[in-house]
Amino acid sequence: MKKKYTIVTYGCQMNEHDSEKISWILENLGYEWTENKEDSDFIVYNTCLVRENAELKVYGQLGALKDLKRKNPDLILAVCGCMMQREEARRVILDKYRHVDIIFGTNNIHKLPLLIDRHKQTNETVVDIVEDTRDIDDNIEANRKYGFKAFVNIMYGCNNFCTYCIVPYTRGRERSREPESIIKEIEKLAEEGYKEIMLLGQNVNSYGKTLNIEYTFADLLRDINKIQGIKRIRFMTSHPKDLSDELIYAMASLDKVCEQLHLPVQSGSNRILKAMNRKYTREDYLLLIEKIKKAIPDISISTDIIVGFPGETEEDFLDTLDLVKKARFDSAFTFLYSIREGTKAAQMENQVPDDIKHERFQRLLDTIYPIFYEENLKYLNKTVEVLVEEVSKNNDEVLSGRTRTGKLVHFKGSKDLIGKFVNVKITTPKTFTLEGHLI
Ligand code: SAH
Ligand code: SF4
Ligand code: F3S
Repeated sequence: MKKKYTIVTYGCQMNEHDSEKISWILENLGYEWTENKEDSDFIVYNTCLVRENAELKVYGQLGALKDLKRKNPDLILAVCGCMMQREEARRVILDKYRHVDIIFGTNNIHKLPLLIDRHKQTNETVVDIVEDTRDIDDNIEANRKYGFKAFVNIMYGCNNFCTYCIVPYTRGRERSREPESIIKEIEKLAEEGYKEIMLLGQNVNSYGKTLNIEYTFADLLRDINKIQGIKRIRFMTSHPKDLSDELIYAMASLDKVCEQLHLPVQSGSNRILKAMNRKYTREDYLLLIEKIKKAIPDISISTDIIVGFPGETEEDFLDTLDLVKKARFDSAFTFLYSIREGTKAAQMENQVPDDIKHERFQRLLDTIYPIFYEENLKYLNKTVEVLVEEVSKNNDEVLSGRTRTGKLVHFKGSKDLIGKFVNVKITTPKTFTLEGHLI
């Protein structure tokens, strides 16, 4: 009987894609996927620490696995991801969670087979971490979740040091992948039948800066746009400070680049944006959005917003509410500011009390949800192209898929449409999704 593995993934698309790579490695070592931790011979936790609750969840889960380990002494337990890039977190694991067998990081996933061997030989906890993003192997294959849309890393790490954010301390320095390597990967995906590509980087707009040639993110989009078989190109995340006119022009003129942009604003207050080290003002941001909407009229824009950054006053918060009303986002990820040890903001005085954070958070939601709904109302009676993704979890007659603008659409249809493009007429726009029927 084949040995079984499972992977529990926290965090962003980077981690999701890393888990797809880990899955590929484990299947090549002869393991078979299971949903179930109880059946597993190998469990991987791919961790995140961007906010405190992500971190606490992992410790809770690891604690609960002690029993499983006792019942099955051959079970191998590995912990990887951003948390493991931090020495403090590794120390907690080594001290308090001694049943963990293998610890590795975000930049040395390709070494996993070696680390498993080393653990089997010594029966000790094996720890292998590298800081340098130059050690990342660009050529590890991935066992992708879908057969029609794929994540592709175009750069690693981050150099921006937004003062609240731990990512630059975990994922290391920014490095762009060589264009040839990216293009080769996407050409292969196209041959295998993939239709949609999501390019991944913490700040894709600064793609190319670490290359030895003059080559920008817009150049990369132009080259990917030529690849036959690929129908849709998306990317995330864009940093407003680096979003160039050249890129807006490329987005507007390249037919495969989708009318969708994730452009985190974080705050609407200039004072707070400065303290966050974001390097743009609310005026810059609003102007940028205006420019983009003019060039690409039906674009959908989403954002990230943090509530309760240290020193945020009622007035600062009202600036955020005002900005979201002006920007009219299609959707947003909203976060309560979470103190991350090691970042500059963690040392700032004037941390905002929890009750105020929560109260502002609720007011923010009360402001943005009606805007999402109104933006979605524009789709009423329109026919949209949808790439069908899966059968709905609650009703197996209902399919879901996404528009070019990234909107999630539900409609009735048979599951052999999965992976295909269909046209759907929207009958019921909702706050977070659109409903319609096939035409
Ligand atoms: N590189 C991307 C996203 C990185 S993390 C970018 O720059 O947009 C995703 C989001 O998590 C961030 O945009 C931010 O809104 C949020 N975030 C990061 N650190 C946080 C913290 N300490 N507390 C609350 N939210 C945080
Ligand atoms: Fe964090 Fe800022 Fe880098 Fe995004 S750009 S990963 S928010 S430091
Ligand atoms: Fe992503 Fe979390 Fe790391 S958001 S980059 S997995 S800290």
